[in-house]
Amino acid sequence: SLTGVDVRAEIDRLRKERNAVILAHYYQKPEIQDLADFVGDSLELSRKAAETDAEVIAFCGVRFMAETAKILSPDKVVVLPDMNAGCSLEDSCPPQQFAAFRAQHPDHIALTYINCSVEVKALSDIIVTSSSAEKILSQIPKDQKIIFGPDKHLGGYINRKMGRDMLLWPGVCIVHEAFSETELLKLKAQHPTAPVAAHPECPPHVLDHADYVGSTSGILAFAKDFDGDTMIVATEPHIIHQMEKAVPHKNFIGAPGADGNCNCNICPYMAMNTLEKLYVALRDLEPRIEIEEEIRLKAKKSLDRMLAMAS
Ligand code: 13P
Ligand code: SF4
Repeated sequence: SLTGVDVRAEIDRLRKERNAVILAHYYQKPEIQDLADFVGDSLELSRKAAETDAEVIAFCGVRFMAETAKILSPDKVVVLPDMNAGCSLEDSCPPQQFAAFRAQHPDHIALTYINCSVEVKALSDIIVTSSSAEKILSQIPKDQKIIFGPDKHLGGYINRKMGRDMLLWPGVCIVHEAFSETELLKLKAQHPTAPVAAHPECPPHVLDHADYVGSTSGILAFAKDFDGDTMIVATEPHIIHQMEKAVPHKNFIGAPGADGNCNCNICPYMAMNTLEKLYVALRDLEPRIEIEEEIRLKAKKSLDRMLAMAS
């Protein structure tokens, strides 16, 4: 039992004792974001994981993010506070089916969103994040045939924006899929001057109403820069914590789901991590990410291409 344990003080003590760095995604609970050594989007977090000289990475995010850290820093101990913190995009793309899809399209290269398993990364040519996808795609000749998975909304958005016709795997993020266009239009009517910033994992009927579309770090930058006092945020609402810290005089409203509030857009996987589980992970150095070396090396190839092409 953790009764009587000062969890925050213990996390601080253990991170020094273990020479650990605590990395957190913007979708983590505010109390986790606030004690992390670094908070960022998927690309920034993978760069940090590749560069750190800490011996332990405590990754407060979902499993594919912690796996990415382990692929890039195999000699480090990587712990994830809750090993069940998965991702609906990863679940939508089983490696065997993805391999069959690739085999059906032998003249296509596979450009793959980082939200997938190690096995799917190993079957891919180049990994992208939402903040790097356009930059990376612009370096690939227009006549190159491409399959893009697992997020069909991100893939469709990039296809439309960049005039490409990548073949899309039919995966979705359950969180971004849950925004309601009707409720969003009602909210916009109440705040007619408020811009809408949306993550490209949103379906097209939400992106159609967005003034800005970008990754979590892009949305955060937009929140700091836009002229005005109120903004509607169409992504996981825990990112609002960073906005309120950065520009406390502005008002941020989470885009609603069908029930009219933003609570159904909390990522259930991200929410599995808690301060208590982080404390236990630092104390026991478990649960640990382990990846078989042969598959790690294959996955690393496609991730290294991302890091090189995104820089
Ligand atoms: P970002 O790379 O924009 O942080 O996205 C991560 C994610 O899981 C979005 O749902
Ligand atoms: Fe996966 Fe969506 Fe959660 Fe991001 S918000 S981790 S894409 S389920």
